[in-house]
Amino acid sequence: MTTYLTDLDLHPLDALAVRIRDRSATAAVVGLGYVGLPLLVSMHASGFRVIGVDADERKIDGLRSRRSHIGDIADSAVEAMDRATFSSNPALLADADVIVLCLPTPLTDGSPDLTMVLTAAEDVARSLKPGAMVVLESTTYPGTTEEFLRPILETSGLRAGRDFALAYSPERIDPGNRHHRLDTTPKIVAGLTDRCRELAVSFYSAFVQTVVTTSSPREAEMAKLIENTYRQVNIALVNELAVLAHGLGVDIWESLRAAATKPFGYQPFWPGPGVGGHCISIDPTYLSWRAGQQLGHRVEFIEHANEVNNRMPDYVVTRVGEALNDAGRPIKGSKVLGVGVA
Ligand SMILES: NC(=O)c1ccc[n+]([C@@H]2O[C@H](COP(=O)([O-])OP(=O)(O)OC[C@H]3O[C@@H](n4cnc5c(N)ncnc54)[C@H](O)[C@@H]3O)[C@@H](O)[C@H]2O)c1
Repeated sequence: MTTYLTDLDLHPLDALAVRIRDRSATAAVVGLGYVGLPLLVSMHASGFRVIGVDADERKIDGLRSRRSHIGDIADSAVEAMDRATFSSNPALLADADVIVLCLPTPLTDGSPDLTMVLTAAEDVARSLKPGAMVVLESTTYPGTTEEFLRPILETSGLRAGRDFALAYSPERIDPGNRHHRLDTTPKIVAGLTDRCRELAVSFYSAFVQTVVTTSSPREAEMAKLIENTYRQVNIALVNELAVLAHGLGVDIWESLRAAATKPFGYQPFWPGPGVGGHCISIDPTYLSWRAGQQLGHRVEFIEHANEVNNRMPDYVVTRVGEALNDAGRPIKGSKVLGVGVA
């Protein structure tokens, strides 16, 4: 193990600040999926030695053979990672100064399921050392970092904000989008304390052009849910209008295209059978569930938007049946081509 001069006389978190600044820190990502692998590549490109941990042995085997399992990341980008270690063994996290958690946060039976964050956080707690920083990137409800993650990490015997830094930074990556990349999309960052925030800002500034801060992790957790709820609700609105327009004999596409010519105060959304990606149909429910749990009532906009969006596949099938009928064709035996299915 390398002993740095700075370690001898500095508080462990001040030593971390120096190591982030001079890039001698080792940065790890737990969960190498759509969010985690691009992040690991960026962290490495900015000069850090990196450790990638994933529970899926096949992904780790592929990465060790310098093969990427993510469309946005070319094999050549993995090949270029000469200061990277890949493993399914979380014990390696003991070598990391910065640990970023990029675990799935699905719904199970309509409720937030943080099981994978829990398992990974327990792994991190077993290896946590003074002067490390843990950052959660998963999308989740306000309060997760402080009320859910913090106590698990503190089973290490270390205290968040004093012995190790704790931060939250929601991921905004849009897989396949060439215009808005990880480095050019502003990144929201929040820390448990001012010092945690400063450390996290310094870390992300190494590979993201613009870092935006909030005063606590709750506001950052909420910001991500606001972004995705905005999309979910607006897509539901045009879906509801599309069904209505059909009944009114209005061509909704023509109307929406005409409305989209307004250069201010309007952002176009388009109707369809799905809301796009797996996040938009899940994340708003995290917010509604949290409101229900804490305030006793769920978010009506979100619940209604879910209902409308969930009805759309059936509606589209009905419209396809009607179109076939108009063409004198039975549904049975007809071949229907789905275009744009992701
Ligand atoms: N995919 C997106 O476009 C996107 C965008 C923004 C935010 N998010 C959010 O980011 C988070 C991660 O999403 P994702 O799309 O990268 O998920 P993903 O399923 O692509 O990747 C998650 C990875 O975590 C691994 N994993 C699961 N449990 C583990 C454990 N205990 N230890 C180690 N590895 C484990 C899985 O094997 C998988 O490789 C979610 O909260 C999601 O909502 C996703």
